[in-house]
Amino acid sequence: MPAIKCVGILTSGGDAPGMNAAIRAVTRAAIYQGIKVKGIYRGYKGMITDEIEEFKTQNVSNIIQRGGTILKTARCAEFKTPEGRKQAHDKLMEHGIDALVVIGGDGSLTGARIFAEEYNMPIVGLPGTIDNDLYGTDVTIGYDTALNTIMECVDKIRDTATSHERLFFIEVMGRDAGFLALNGAIASGAEAAIIPEISLEKDQLAEMIETGFRKSKNSSIVLVAESDVTGGAMGVAERVKNEYPQFDVRVSILGHLQRGGSPSAQDRILATRMGVAAVDALLDGQRNVMIGIQNDEIVNVPFSKAIKNDKPINRDLLDALRISSI
Ligand code: ADP
Ligand code: F6P
Repeated sequence: MPAIKCVGILTSGGDAPGMNAAIRAVTRAAIYQGIKVKGIYRGYKGMITDEIEEFKTQNVSNIIQRGGTILKTARCAEFKTPEGRKQAHDKLMEHGIDALVVIGGDGSLTGARIFAEEYNMPIVGLPGTIDNDLYGTDVTIGYDTALNTIMECVDKIRDTATSHERLFFIEVMGRDAGFLALNGAIASGAEAAIIPEISLEKDQLAEMIETGFRKSKNSSIVLVAESDVTGGAMGVAERVKNEYPQFDVRVSILGHLQRGGSPSAQDRILATRMGVAAVDALLDGQRNVMIGIQNDEIVNVPFSKAIKNDKPINRDLLDALRISSI
């Protein structure tokens, strides 16, 4: 296998706090190992439109604490076509890029996998998404910060919920995954979480109301994961207005607040460890793997597993929430 001389790095899909810390770690680890680094702007789009520049250690100074991504990010429809990927590959060749580190979510790593197979290019992925929905890693870069943001927001909304004795449905992100909603509910002392993983098994709203929820409380907070399956906070609130009109209901959708802000210490450390591990993996001849973390150990997870498998919800968390909110 020829030695890697130049690695390209990009961020793709939804931004997540800690992406900058990952860019910094990959850049510095590569330079440390004598490999050239090129920053590719705007995700896969920048490969096609040739927005590529060499990165020195100074390019990544003073960014570990910043949210978002200095490389910008984008969603790129052309990259989903063989013609778009060919253009992207031609540009990489012109720049002498012989390996890639892709930081992004499920979609971005799907693109990476297809590209790696089509062009036999070594690619390592880093799981960068607040959704925490990638299989093979206990946590993803950005998840901890988003969870902390949710907790702070819910703490504030609780003041109004308590003062007005209201039932609040707070919608959090997750793109069909309930990790933010479930752990956000536990962390903020909410009464319940409505998540897509459980929606098909039972009617979470009916169960919550019918098992005597609010017997001992005058206000309640329920976190709802955004999803067609849950109906989102608006859908759930609409149902309550029709079926349980005795409640004074309000909805709050946290939205993109959850994606921004300075990364938590956990996310900075995770991103740094994963960034260094990505370069190690490339040097070690690994290709088509996502760097994950399991029980505090760095692991290499084949793209095929990380993308295809659904990451399960830990059922103990459901019990912890149910019992702690009586
Ligand atoms: P995320 O990485 O946050 O899940 P998206 O699902 O929007 O975000 O994917 C980001 C980008 O990854 C897409 O805009 C596209 O460029 C690329 N991508 C996603 N799916 C594919 C695919 N099946 N083939 C090629 N590229 C893809
Ligand atoms: O994947 C991250 C995420 O924030 C999801 O939780 C959400 O569904 C989606 O991205 C929102 O995307 P956009 O910023 O394009 O509206």
